[in-house]
Amino acid sequence: MPLEVFERFALRRFNSFGVDACARFFVRLRHAEQLAWLDEDARLRAVPRLILGGGTNLLLTGDFDGVVVKMDFAGLRDAGETGDAWLIEVGAGESWHATVERLLERQRPGLENLALIPGLAGAAPIQNIGAYGLELAERFHALTAWDFEARTLVTMSAAECNFGYRDSVFKRELAGRRAITSITLALPKRWEPVTHYADVANELKARAITRPQPRDIFDAVVAIRRRKLPDPETIGNAGSFFKNPIVSREQHRALLAHHPSLVSYPMPGGRFKLAAGWLIEAAGLKGATRGRAGVYERQALVLVNRGGATGAEILALAREIQQKVAEKFGVWLEPEPVIV
Ligand code: EPU
Repeated sequence: MPLEVFERFALRRFNSFGVDACARFFVRLRHAEQLAWLDEDARLRAVPRLILGGGTNLLLTGDFDGVVVKMDFAGLRDAGETGDAWLIEVGAGESWHATVERLLERQRPGLENLALIPGLAGAAPIQNIGAYGLELAERFHALTAWDFEARTLVTMSAAECNFGYRDSVFKRELAGRRAITSITLALPKRWEPVTHYADVANELKARAITRPQPRDIFDAVVAIRRRKLPDPETIGNAGSFFKNPIVSREQHRALLAHHPSLVSYPMPGGRFKLAAGWLIEAAGLKGATRGRAGVYERQALVLVNRGGATGAEILALAREIQQKVAEKFGVWLEPEPVIV
C-alpha cells in the first residue's frame, strides 16, 4: 500500500516551539512495516530525512528540504518479566506522560519522577530523558528500531544504546540511521520512592507526606513542573535548551572562588555538574526578550517563543546566551534539542 505523501507541509503544530516552518514532504507512519516503504518512493529516497516524534526537543531554524517522517506507532503491552522487573513494551508513538499515568493506574509504578515530560515514548531513549533524580536508563530494558541501511528491524539492549546524561548512541553514531519503533521498560517489582532531588523532598514535606506512595511522587512532580516549566500548549518551548555543563574539579574550584553562590553537583570521577540555569541567570539573561524569543522568567534554562518567533530568532538568542556565559564563566553551554 503506498504511503500518503503531503507536500509543502506546515510543521507549526508538530514542534513544541510552535515555529512556523514547512517540510517539503511529510508522511505519517502507523505500522513499523511502513518504514520499508519509504525507500520505494523515488521522491522520498532522494532527499534528507527527519524522524519526528512529538517535536518537543527540536528547533527548526527554517524550512526542511526533505521528508519529515512522523512516528505514530501505538501500543502498550506486557512483555514478560525478569527476576526483579516487569517488562512493558510501548509503541514509539505513545505519549510519554500518558504512558507514565496509565502504568501507575495498572499498578506498575517506577516512572513517576518522569511525569509530565512532553513528547513520545519513542524519543525517550534518544536523549535519555531524566528529571527529579531519575533517568530513563534506570527503567530501560530494550528497544526495537528500523535500520535504514540494513532495511530491517533490530533489537537493541541498554548497553548498545550507550546512555549518558541527556545522551545516547542515537545522538551520535546512529543519528538519522535508525528509527525507534518501540521501547521496552523495566519497572521494579519492589518499588522504592526516589526522593533525593531537593525539589521532590521539599514538595513532599510541604504536603506532610512522610511515606510516599507512587501517586504522591507523581502528584509532587506534576506540581513542581507546572510551577517551574511553561506548558508548550500555551508558551512554545522545548524544555531545557542547554545541558548542564560538566567541569573538572579545578575549574569548579576556581569558579566557586569567584562565585560563591554557584549551584553545582558532584559527579563520579571528581567532576562537577553546574546548574546552567544559574549561569544564565547570573549572566543577567533570565527573562530577557530578543524580538519574539525569550528566556523564561521562572527557569532561565528554558527558551520560549513569545509569539510568532522564527527558529532563527530563537537560535540567535541561544548564541547570545552561549557567548555571554562563556565570557563570564569560561564555560560553553551545549544545546539539548536537535537543531535542524
Ligand atoms: N537555577 C537558577 N536559576 C534558574 C534556574 C535554575 O539559579 O533560572 C538553579 C537553582 O538553584 C536550581 C538549580 O539551578 O536549584 C537546578 O534547577 P532545576 O531543579 O530547575 O533543574 P535544572 O538543572 O535547571 C534539570 C533538567 C530538567 C529537569 C530538572 C529536574 C537538564 C538540562 N535539565 O534542570 O530537564 O526537569 O533538572 O530534574 O538536565 C529538560 O531536559 O528539558 C528538562 C526540563
